Amino acid sequence: MVAIDGRTATGVSFALTEEQNELRRLARTFAEREIRPREAEHDAEMRHPAALVAQAHDLGLMNLHVPAEFGGLGLSAFDGMLVGEELNWGCSGIGTSILANGLGAGPVILFGSPEQKARWLPPLAEQPILCSFALSEPGAGSDVAALRSTAARQGDEYVLNGSKTFITNAGHAEWAVVFAKTDPAAGRRGMSAFVVEMGSPGVTIEKHLEKMGQRATDTSAFALHDVRVPAENRLGEEGDGFKIAMATLDFTRPGTAIGAVGVAQAAYEHALAYSKERVTFDLPIAMHQAVGFMVADMATEIQAARLLCWQAAWMLDQGLGREATLYSSFAKRFAADTAMKVTTDAVQVFGGYGYIKEYPVEKLMRDAKLFQIYEGTSQIQRLVIAREIFTPKG
Ligand code: CAA
Repeated sequence: MVAIDGRTATGVSFALTEEQNELRRLARTFAEREIRPREAEHDAEMRHPAALVAQAHDLGLMNLHVPAEFGGLGLSAFDGMLVGEELNWGCSGIGTSILANGLGAGPVILFGSPEQKARWLPPLAEQPILCSFALSEPGAGSDVAALRSTAARQGDEYVLNGSKTFITNAGHAEWAVVFAKTDPAAGRRGMSAFVVEMGSPGVTIEKHLEKMGQRATDTSAFALHDVRVPAENRLGEEGDGFKIAMATLDFTRPGTAIGAVGVAQAAYEHALAYSKERVTFDLPIAMHQAVGFMVADMATEIQAARLLCWQAAWMLDQGLGREATLYSSFAKRFAADTAMKVTTDAVQVFGGYGYIKEYPVEKLMRDAKLFQIYEGTSQIQRLVIAREIFTPKG
């Protein structure tokens, strides 16, 4: 059984260093001056924010975890929390577009050979190019082992066939880590991971999916038809794909979770300001306990979610790896559900105004919903948490 007793918190200081405060300020200023003024148009037009991605890249707010030896920023998971919250506070559609390289490049950073890292990581540091994590398929989202794409070995190459969907940034990516079965009869043990260049013959973007929220982020479906990939592009050994996917998600889920905190924080700030301005029955509505308590719960739950994210990131930085699985899922589950609740309550505080597009909170409510779905639904996080609690790791 895993002990859940807060023991991992020993030795942690909540005081940020001057460098961390500086990084946070940089991200907040960019979000305030560049992202916020453009979020509505990107949302309305479902437009990929290429210019903002390039600006974020120039400022050093992208590819946070590419190691310094490959030209990257080499930031800790914890430092990533500070950037992730602020960019998503600006707009989570734009924030996701900027930060999704963390997921795309995650398998290479965590499992690439020195040669693979040297090939795929430095270009990310040099230019604002995008990469994707292509796991989900039309018939396999939560149940990863059910994916049906195949990779058949032919000499020094693999030939990939299949369909991928719900892939962040795929429509603009240079390359993607594609998960496919090298031994379809072996279930999850027959899954492998490959770096696939999106310009390869046989890769076809089939659809840019129109989403309810986070509409600035491209989410695409693509097909692989006899795509030839050099064997040297396989990450790890044949059959390692499932574990590569799971371990990558352990690493990225806190980063996604803190994005939910950013959205919730934005909704809270809007609700707080409005509750002090809006008068009913001769009082600002904040003075009515029904509203005051909603705002109090928002503030409490956001801080709890933030601290769960920080703890999960801290565990990853301690190299706790598999032990961090539980904490990554705690953070993802709680932060996503908190963002949904806080943004829904923020719409409620605004009343009728909250439901119309002229005011900012309806977008935040639409954006929040995705956090309960991507990178593992809230139900999958509960499944992971229950298994980690009840099933000792071998
Ligand atoms: N790290 C390393 N190994 C792990 C692991 C982890 N975190 N979790 C499980 N494993 C290992 C297990 O130890 C087990 O190993 P053995 O075979 O040696 O015993 C093996 O993997 C199988 O584990 P499970 O029995 O738990 O596997 P399962 O088939 O029951 O599935 C699951 C587990 C948790 C449900 C998993 O399928 C899952 O996480 N599903 C959600 C997938 C997900 O998050 N998808 C999101 C896609 S990305 C995205 O959304 C981004 C985008 O671009 C939109």
